[in-house]
Amino acid sequence: MPLLPILRYPDPRLYKVAQPVQAIDAPLQALIRDMLATMYDAKGIGLAATQVDQHLRLMVIDISEEHNQPQVLINPELLWASEEHLKGEEGCLSVPGIYDDVERAAEVRVRAQDEHGVAREIEAEGLLAVCIQHELDHLMGKVFVQYLSRLKQSRIKAKLRKQEREAQQQQEA
Ligand code: NI
Repeated sequence: MPLLPILRYPDPRLYKVAQPVQAIDAPLQALIRDMLATMYDAKGIGLAATQVDQHLRLMVIDISEEHNQPQVLINPELLWASEEHLKGEEGCLSVPGIYDDVERAAEVRVRAQDEHGVAREIEAEGLLAVCIQHELDHLMGKVFVQYLSRLKQSRIKAKLRKQEREAQQQQEA
């Protein structure tokens, strides 16, 4: 199972809006497998297809301690979000090394198809609720740092560009 390259903020492809999945076919199953492998390898708890430059409404999540409870959400739809909001620290595989507080709905209800095409409703709170909202944002072309101040956003961009340059120089050396 090949690992997929993860787009890094501020790559403009992270701002693309994902299109609905039309068919849960063999290529999609392969993409799901590769996304899960990529997420586990990167020690993430969620990955949206957008982040691997596939602009389809698809996300994979695993918030379990043992990394053995993968959840696949195809064409997810937010049905309800609680009025109660909570602030919590978030990170993102597309924004390595950066963590900051984001306010999200405390609970959400989502409808999605699983990898077998079975539609189900998910009631989520806590970490799962945060993760689902974070990945739904990716599918709309939004990265969590866009909730932060402009000053923070430009600092983060500068830091990531510097990291990238240093990584390239190391490869060349
Ligand atoms: Ni993310």
